Amino acid sequence: MSTMVRKSKKTAGIRQAAAILAAVLGTAVIVSGCGGTSPKKGNGSVRIGVSLYDQYDTFISELMDSFGSYVDTRKSEGVEIATIVQDASRSQPAQNEDVAEMIENGCNVLCVNLVDRTAPTEIIDTARKNDIPVIFFNRELVEEDLMQWDKLYYVGADAFQSGILQGEMATEYFKAHPEADRNEDGSIQYVVLEGEAGHQDAIIRTEYSVDTMISNGILLDKVGYAIANWNRAQARSKMEQLIDGNGSGIELVLANNDDMALGAIDAYQGRGIPEEEWPAIFGIDGTDTGLEAVIAGSMTGTIYNDKDGQARAMEELAYTLASGGSLDKMQLPDGVAMQDNKYIRLPYEKVDREKAEEYLSK
Ligand code: BGC
Repeated sequence: MSTMVRKSKKTAGIRQAAAILAAVLGTAVIVSGCGGTSPKKGNGSVRIGVSLYDQYDTFISELMDSFGSYVDTRKSEGVEIATIVQDASRSQPAQNEDVAEMIENGCNVLCVNLVDRTAPTEIIDTARKNDIPVIFFNRELVEEDLMQWDKLYYVGADAFQSGILQGEMATEYFKAHPEADRNEDGSIQYVVLEGEAGHQDAIIRTEYSVDTMISNGILLDKVGYAIANWNRAQARSKMEQLIDGNGSGIELVLANNDDMALGAIDAYQGRGIPEEEWPAIFGIDGTDTGLEAVIAGSMTGTIYNDKDGQARAMEELAYTLASGGSLDKMQLPDGVAMQDNKYIRLPYEKVDREKAEEYLSK
């Protein structure tokens, strides 16, 4: 599509940031300004503005790779479609500003990965004033906020399910491997590596994973926990402290995501502990590196957070909203439906060593 971008200093800044991000995300994301000589809606083209909480988050960047491929496919089918991607670098005020600018520059639908999931009001107000629908994704706002306007949507997954599946997988593992209770005291000494405080997935995953194990008859003994903000390097250093404090006494690591499970693996490697003495380590996400670790056997298992399905649903919804299509006719992934005209949630799946290869090629 031809996009005439207004030559304001600010717009140039946006395009530069977007171009940098496109380089980071690979070629899949189409970067062209949403702007045009007749901005706003109604000229038949689809202009999607995407705002990310942090472009360096592994799961988000893999989701955006998939999103870019779906946009590319649509483009190859002759649809006039452009995307601009902005990184808020974990600043809510910056995200609010980006959203306003993307609207000003003619985006006719927005996909917003909130920095602070409790603070969507400014974005909602700006979008509503301009009648631009917003699809929030991955970082779930509370229901009351989503209900503020009928053109607000959420694409993500069911946090409860990820915790339950991780708990089930860990239960299955300890039942099949009684020797994993190394000190043979009948209970499993465990630590939790938690994501960002206040994130729906961190709070819920921890609680449901542990509760599921307990209700399945596993005796658990919590010997430590740490918040590592979804981050591999932070998880490594927190895990090193936990190892130093507990010696070889840790039998299970429940990590809220794969990057933190990988950080735990880094810590065991860094401390020079032989692999046969490592605890069982479970992650969530099924990122490429996470799946490789499951295949290698260093990560015991993970729960697939369907980034591809979420990207596909988000692109389809964005396209439908911006082109005035019918939500009832959307082509969502198999078995997935929109709930309450608001939510699209993709199911999680357990991934063990046998299945990891298949998920890696998704
Ligand atoms: C993912 C994490 C990611 C976070 C970002 C979660 O659903 O599991 O890996 O860091 O979302 O919001």
